[in-house]
Amino acid sequence: MNAQDIRNSYLEFFKERGHAVIPRAKLIPYNDPTTLFTGSGMQPLLPYLLGETHPEGVRLTDSQTCLRAQDIEDVGDNRHTTFFEMLGNWSLGDYFKEQQIRWFFEFLTEKVGLDPNKIYVTAFIGDEAHGIPRDDEAANIWQKVFAEKGIEAKIVEVGSQADGDERGIKPGERIFFYDDGENWWSRGGGLDKTPIGDPCGPDSEVFYDFGPQNHDESYGKAHPASDSGQFMEIGNQVFMQYRRLEDGSFEPLEHKNVDFGGGLERIAAAQIDSPDVFRISILWPIIETLEKLSGKSYESNTASMRVIADHLRAATFMAVDDVKPSNKEQGYVMRRLIRRAVRFAFDLGIEQNFLEQVVPVIADMYASDYPEVAAARDEIIATLVKEERVFRQTLRKGINELTKRKENGLTGTEIFTLYDTYGFPVELSTEEAFKQGIELSETWRQEFDDKMAEQRARSQTAAKGTFKGGLGGQTLQHKKYHTATHLMYAALRQVLGDHVVQHGSNITEERLRFDFSHPEKMTPEQVKAVEDIVNREIHKDLKISFAEYPTKVAREEMGALGQFGDRYGETVKVYKMIADNEEAPFSFEICGGPHVDHTMELTEPDDKQFKIVKEESSSAGIRRIKAILQ
Ligand code: ALA
Repeated sequence: MNAQDIRNSYLEFFKERGHAVIPRAKLIPYNDPTTLFTGSGMQPLLPYLLGETHPEGVRLTDSQTCLRAQDIEDVGDNRHTTFFEMLGNWSLGDYFKEQQIRWFFEFLTEKVGLDPNKIYVTAFIGDEAHGIPRDDEAANIWQKVFAEKGIEAKIVEVGSQADGDERGIKPGERIFFYDDGENWWSRGGGLDKTPIGDPCGPDSEVFYDFGPQNHDESYGKAHPASDSGQFMEIGNQVFMQYRRLEDGSFEPLEHKNVDFGGGLERIAAAQIDSPDVFRISILWPIIETLEKLSGKSYESNTASMRVIADHLRAATFMAVDDVKPSNKEQGYVMRRLIRRAVRFAFDLGIEQNFLEQVVPVIADMYASDYPEVAAARDEIIATLVKEERVFRQTLRKGINELTKRKENGLTGTEIFTLYDTYGFPVELSTEEAFKQGIELSETWRQEFDDKMAEQRARSQTAAKGTFKGGLGGQTLQHKKYHTATHLMYAALRQVLGDHVVQHGSNITEERLRFDFSHPEKMTPEQVKAVEDIVNREIHKDLKISFAEYPTKVAREEMGALGQFGDRYGETVKVYKMIADNEEAPFSFEICGGPHVDHTMELTEPDDKQFKIVKEESSSAGIRRIKAILQ
């Protein structure tokens, strides 16, 4: 049985037991701005867990592709991956604890063939302050099902993970009560971290024992909820019986639900008795390909190969779900994953383009079970390969820049600039410096961190789940000047009149340039008036947004400005810049973007002002302005 077989067998098992098999949701959540990615199987089902009727009935099952970008730093050990599949089954007010525990145990022992002696389980210890009782019911059911396999399972109270690290396991113990840090499930975590309005409840987790040879003693004694490597969580059954109220208390749900989630990769690892999930059939072919390409072995390059395999698998599935590498949100995470993979491959000596060889291997592992992967195969490969090409140029440019620092050494500010301008990874700067014998300033790390912190404070896109800091200072600067151009265009029309029409625009990192129709030189007063209006609007912190409109409506009914005559298609994107308390937008222009989100960003850092530095003739009847933010 390989991982693909386990997935199919699970869905079949629950289908036979009255569950509708529902398709996975995309990695980009539909209509949920609170999170960048689908991170668990229950997420797309939230409304139904809160009581809405699901069209497919009260028993559902699926295998949900998930992405947890926040785990990126953990990848490299034997079990963390940013992308994974969560096998899920749900009871919406139908069956409850006994049925769930029995079925999952049966699936693991009878279908997957796990040895029940290697299975350990946990349940919620209860919390008096919040009025949640200890889950004796779950513990007693577990005791019964183990007894049916001839296993006498002792129940024990542990409490916190730290208590467990100290206490360990005594002979015969198999069912463990832990506190809400371990056995309370909500999208936010433990009891007090449960988001208001969210469904939640005590859970019962199932662990596989890989044996004491995998226990790392630096974690204390072995026990199921320890991170020491001996035990791995392979499934979590949430008994969703509560919903959190505004006042922080927990109200019982009218219908009790079961929300089960089990990591496919981890169950597959348990099935082959390998604590290393990268050995399973939906990861190992990638590692083998990397071994071939690098001529190096997995055994001596384990962490790097794991990172590359994980990141490229994740990026591949993002491409399946229509994400493109960019400097924003999901696209930014995708870009980071691909670049990180290329960077780690570089370390392995893979300096030529290699995604063309790896991505097809990944697509082929999923093509037969996910038709959307097969359908988009060529496009997926093209998307990743393109990003690799762009990044390799970056790598080369960055290395050239570094070489120039040979004489004077390298400061943290320069490392930041390389990172910010070229997307050149910090570790690569320091390693290159070492290779080329370039001296690093003693305080480079502090300087770099300070610069990062400054940028973080500025960055509006550092949304939850994205990575710290940001790529593309270049792009940010470009966006600022683009936004300033729209503001100036509107201001010019106010000051000079409606005959002002855009004839051209050109933006660099340092300035904007704008050509427009106007019959004579602007007076100093007019220049000053335009500057003042632009600065005034910037300080109103106009909010910038766009929408698609039929071209005719945008131009004729709404009066959007546009410069390309009749060269527009059926619909156009219109950018609007408007103050919170005003009815009419200051600027309303047909444009492809991108722009900053708020005009106050143009003042950052250190209170920059918009300034026209040149006004001159461009050709007959056309004036040209150059302006800066300084
Ligand atoms: N929703 C539960 C989890 O993510 C099953 O662990």
